[in-house]
Amino acid sequence: FRPPWTPEQATKGNFPHFMLKEIHEQGTAVKETLMSISTDPRVKEVLELLEGRVVVVAAGTSLHAGMVFSYALGKLLGKDVILLDSSEAYHLEKLLKDTVIAISQSGETYDTLKAVRIAKRNGAKVIGVVNVLGSTLDREADISLYTRAGPEIGVAATKTFLSQVTLLLYLVSRMSGVELKDPHLLVESSIRKSIGYARSLAERLKEKQSMFVLGTGASLPIAYEGALKIKEISYVHAEGYPAGEAKHGPIALAEEGFPVLIAWTPEDEEKLQVAKEEFASRGSEVYWVGPRGDIVAPESDWLHLPFTITPPFQLLAYYMAVLKGYDPDKPRNLAKSVTVH
Ligand code: G6P
Repeated sequence: FRPPWTPEQATKGNFPHFMLKEIHEQGTAVKETLMSISTDPRVKEVLELLEGRVVVVAAGTSLHAGMVFSYALGKLLGKDVILLDSSEAYHLEKLLKDTVIAISQSGETYDTLKAVRIAKRNGAKVIGVVNVLGSTLDREADISLYTRAGPEIGVAATKTFLSQVTLLLYLVSRMSGVELKDPHLLVESSIRKSIGYARSLAERLKEKQSMFVLGTGASLPIAYEGALKIKEISYVHAEGYPAGEAKHGPIALAEEGFPVLIAWTPEDEEKLQVAKEEFASRGSEVYWVGPRGDIVAPESDWLHLPFTITPPFQLLAYYMAVLKGYDPDKPRNLAKSVTVH
């Protein structure tokens, strides 16, 4: 049993915005989540279910956590997970069977609940990965696993993303035998290292209309998530894209001053370098996020990459929004949980 959230957790404390506070709470959120999941008796049953066919459904940032999970399972175990964006899942309702993992911070996202209900009708076992205890997903799932991020007030998900990633990679670690090593320390070091760089790059990027965020392998889900954060709160069009795929069309946008961010990974630096040259030779401004980058993040192996390169993108998005005079906690047109279809 864990005590419920306290009222103090839902104040800004000394931070100007909830989002900045929640970015800084990520070390703790990740640590609490890892502590809780590693002693959770439900994990045994979940691991048994994961031996079979697995479908993941999620929306928005939670979908990106699902991508991290499915990439790690494919890479380490050759296990194929079907990953469905909740809003599209109903078209493929016959796929919603066996074991379905629904990832949702709020546990109230309409599209995710709709997929869960179809899955249950099809006789699937539903595992909910949820941050809000007592939410609809928590109640409707056969088994709930909890992220322990505490209340997230900022509309753009930050600490709940890395908490979902922690929980899901913990399951991967149990299935594969690889170890998760102190993810909270990586997150804390990433914030310390990158915050100054993120702020100065935000100054340079805030007036841009559009940009790419390229990644490959383990950095691709983070590129998608980074682009989503930038769009959500700074209203700059940012598109996450696989680095090698960018030459098949998107490169047409490259011109003098067009910004391209590259999310580093140790898996294939050469591919990222090639993408960089393709854009830079056409006048694009290319910025790296990673060790030795334009935004410096700590070294890490591919498995721990979400913990080191997610915070720089969150901070970049945050400062772009703030420098443009927008409230990062309450972006226009968005709601914390989307309970309509
Ligand atoms: C909304 C929010 C996103 C969030 C998504 C899924 O669109 O603006 O930040 O990622 O819903 O939310 P969930 O609560 O299901 O994780």
